[in-house]
Order: sequence, then C-alpha cells, then structure tokens
Amino acid sequence: MSLAIGALNAPLKRHAPTVENLAEADSFFWDGRAESLEVQAVGPITHPKEMNADLDEVINRLSAIEEYRRYFRIAYPSEGLTVDTMLRSIATYERTLRSGWSRFDDWVSGDEDAISAPAKRGFEVFIGPARCASCHSGWSFTDHAYHAIGVASGDVGRGGFDPSAPYQFKTPGLRNIALRAPFMHNGSVASLRQVVEHYRVGGAENYRHIADIEPLDLSQQQVEDLITFLHTLTALDPHVSAPALPAE
Ligand code: HEC
Repeated sequence: MSLAIGALNAPLKRHAPTVENLAEADSFFWDGRAESLEVQAVGPITHPKEMNADLDEVINRLSAIEEYRRYFRIAYPSEGLTVDTMLRSIATYERTLRSGWSRFDDWVSGDEDAISAPAKRGFEVFIGPARCASCHSGWSFTDHAYHAIGVASGDVGRGGFDPSAPYQFKTPGLRNIALRAPFMHNGSVASLRQVVEHYRVGGAENYRHIADIEPLDLSQQQVEDLITFLHTLTALDPHVSAPALPAE
C-alpha cells in the first residue's frame, strides 16, 4: 500500500491520481465528487490532512507578493487576486498538462516500425480478449466513468455518496502508465504485471464479489504482450516544464 503524504506527515486516505489529460474530464477525485477542476482544487488546499490551509489566508499570503498581484491584475483585470481567480488559475494551468506524444501515437499515425511485434499483439489483446478497452477507451484510455474492479480495499469509493455505485472508482487514463506505479486508488498494486494478473483472475482475492469484471482466459504470451503494449504509451518526452514562480 502506498498513499500520498500530507501536511501532518501522515498518509492520506487514497493514492494521488494523475493530473494529466484532465482538460477532457468532467468529474474529479477517484470518486468523482467534484464537478470541476476549480472545485477540486479547494479540497487539497483546505483539507486538514493535506495542505491544511485557510483560503483567505492563502490569498493574504499571495497578495504579499507584488508579482502575483500584478499578474492577477493582468489576467483578471476586473477581479484581481481573489479566492475565485486563484482557483481558476490553478485549474487553467492543470488543463495544459497533456501526457505527450508516444511511440504508440507514431504507430497509429502509420509508422509500422514505431512499436515492436509483441507490442502490436498486446494492443490486439487490450482491445480484444482482455476487454481492457471496454473501460480504458479513447485518446486518454478512459471512459471517464466509474466501475468496481475488486481492488483489495474497504473503501466504498463513489458509494460514499451514491448508494447505486458501491466500490466504484474512476477509470484512470493509461497514458504514461509505466511511469506511475504503484497503482489503483490505494496504491495496493505494485507493478503492471500485477495489474494484469489482477484482471486475469477477476479481482483481488476476497474482493471478487464486489467486482464488475470477469476472470480472463489469457495465455502467458498474451500477458507478456499486453505489458509490452502498455509501455508504448509512455511519452517520448514526459517532462513538464515548471513555470517560473514570482519571488517573495
Ligand atoms: C470495468 C472497467 C475496467 C476494465 C474492463 C479494465 N479496467 Fe483498468 N481500471 C478501471 C478502474 C475503475 C480502475 C481504478 C480502480 C481503483 O483504483 O480502484 C482501473 C485501474 C487500472 C490501472 C491503474 C491505473 C492507475 O493510475 O493507478 C491500470 C494500469 C489498468 N486499470 C489497466 C487495465 C488493463 C490492462 C485492463 C485489461 C486487462 C483493464 N485495466 C481493464 C476500470 C477498468
């Protein structure tokens, strides 16, 4: 199990999800309880176990920095630096975080040599007998929907506020997935090999009854090919350049 660490140096309830490719999403957090990135940003800033801050106090601190005041006057001439414009700025920045061009993209664009024969077979397994694409679909490899896949966890996920969705979590996109271990909402699955094994047997032991997936009939070769394919989704240049921050 591997969970994010917050302000009190204590583990949080869930593993931090990726912030990539969220411009196309319409609900946020593992359980989708926030309807926009602007609303989502309030959570981590104010949560006692995460950043443990008060929004007005954050604005006071940012306002003490001349350059922030100036930039916000330029970006939001009639409003300047307020809680609302700060949240909009964070959300707007997040919408620029794209996962980047990968070898898989070269291949689907017509370069037959961009990925290996096992990776091509792995893609066939992904969209065929392994049924991964029934949930991990589209450019980002997510249906932006919620499913219960039987992860070993007592967390009811979306069921916490929607009784019709017990144990459901958001389908994560799979771009750059080889860079993102450990996996799942609680970081309980350590490697891509273990992820594929999770699906092959139809969910974690003792949690299969809560899973909306069926065991898969995959050969060892298909398992290996599937893992090889997942590695082709890594961006050729995975780096995000950090913006220059105003100095205090
Ligand atoms: C029924 C929908 C569904 C199917 C089918 C499915 N997935 Fe998932 N996948 C999910 C959901 C939902 C999660 C998040 C579950 C959680 O954290 O509890 C997930 C998580 C993952 C993760 C971890 C992502 C992360 O950021 O931690 C990987 C990798 C993954 N799936 C790959 C696959 C592969 C490979 C297949 C096919 C063998 C597959 N999935 C089939 C819905 C699905």
